[in-house]
Amino acid sequence: MSTVKFYQSENQVPLEMHKVRIIQKLSLLPVEERLKKIQEAGCNTFLLENKDIYLDMLTDSGVNAMSDLQMAASMQADDSYAGSATFNRVKAAIKEVFGTDNVLPAHQGRACENILASALVKPGQTALMNFHFTTTKAHVTRMGGSVEELVAEKGLKPQSNDPFKGDFDLKKLKATIKEKGAENIAFVRVEAGTNLIGGQPVSLENMLAVTDICHDNGIVSVLDASLLQDNIYFMKTREARCKHMDIKTIYHLLADHFDIIYFSARKLSFSKGGIITSKDPKYTKMMMEYIPLYEGFLTYGGIDVRTMESLAQGLYESLDMEYINQGPEFINYLAKELDDYGVPVVLPAGGLGCHLNAGAFVPNLPHNQYPAAAVAAALYIAGGIRGMERGTLSEQRNPDGTEPFSELELMRLAVPRRVYTLSQLKYVADRVKWVWDNRELIGGLEWVEEPSVLRFFFGRLKEIGYWQEQLAEKFRQDFGDSL
Ligand code: F0G
Repeated sequence: MSTVKFYQSENQVPLEMHKVRIIQKLSLLPVEERLKKIQEAGCNTFLLENKDIYLDMLTDSGVNAMSDLQMAASMQADDSYAGSATFNRVKAAIKEVFGTDNVLPAHQGRACENILASALVKPGQTALMNFHFTTTKAHVTRMGGSVEELVAEKGLKPQSNDPFKGDFDLKKLKATIKEKGAENIAFVRVEAGTNLIGGQPVSLENMLAVTDICHDNGIVSVLDASLLQDNIYFMKTREARCKHMDIKTIYHLLADHFDIIYFSARKLSFSKGGIITSKDPKYTKMMMEYIPLYEGFLTYGGIDVRTMESLAQGLYESLDMEYINQGPEFINYLAKELDDYGVPVVLPAGGLGCHLNAGAFVPNLPHNQYPAAAVAAALYIAGGIRGMERGTLSEQRNPDGTEPFSELELMRLAVPRRVYTLSQLKYVADRVKWVWDNRELIGGLEWVEEPSVLRFFFGRLKEIGYWQEQLAEKFRQDFGDSL
């Protein structure tokens, strides 16, 4: 993709090294219908139905397009309960990509986290992370532990030109271990492609330094590799020492240093499922008993065998730069379009998706009126595009009922891998620009029903005032009879 130069350099765009051979029809409802649908969904984009959505940019999880080879591989699945040849093929793919022999399957990433937390977290212990992920934190706290975030300060600046905003603050990591005592640390977790701060990568240098610190202190190091594919693209393009390294060499180096690696195969490998792997069998032994208990037998772990075959093939594809560059380069294209227009987006663009900085988009809305969710609702009304709130609404209330405000109020437009075309991303940019130009119409949201856990999934809200009706009317004025 990046190596093909256009004759007229001003027309340079990311160019796919694949073609589409299966399509799915989409439809776009008129704006009046979109207004109705978002209000029926409690202004929560999770509660919209896919039939009412034109471009689903909620997530990059489980919605990536499969290759012909993945589809073909799924046909050779062996669904015997035990001793399945499919599991051997998954193990061979893990061995090839990570160089590890010990493999536990689970039905998805959060299931790996459940098992990890069940095996490693004791009440009162802390898990240190560059940044939490919602499900990771929920599993650690469920076991009576807590989470402390040690991302470098640069990670929380929405715009900068730092290439690795997901890096750990190594000084803070050392100081926190000293202060708490190594025995009170359940594990240290590095999240590659740090999700909640905009898919921001961690440098290889920083990852290895974290594992060294863990090793020196006898603390278990864990890599959440769900977004590692994007992270490796950034290592290759932004970190001098990785430029000439083979992609596989980077995977192997990481597996040599981290005690445990787990990932959601809904992201890494363009498939579904989850995997825990480690070089040292002592770690997989600690977790093994939980697999038949919660997931399924050790050779399938709750994953459908056809999916396991596509997972194995997808892992091989995650070694191919022509595949792994598509997501980050499309995201960069969208972020640049928006930034050039003056829309506040997280920069540099990360993996996973393009993140609007809702805090700067609607600076007058307080955290407790959920600015990022309000922008997400506005964009659905404007274009039938479904994004996701990644701000205060995605936080969990404190045990005393107070509401922690998110440091970043982001509205994520995930770019599923190999799914959308550049014209569709141009449409997204166009509608976001329109919302930006009409941002003074956007108002806040208030609760109608607030669940006590994972409230962003099920919670229902409503507009404060009638700003959504006004936005839809303005759309009609500006766009005439356009959908
Ligand atoms: N870790 C990271 C970094 C993730 O982004 C996710 C999921 C998980 C773990 C959990 O994996 O979904 O297979 O259970 N992220 C999805 C998202 C949900 O939309 O960002 P899972």
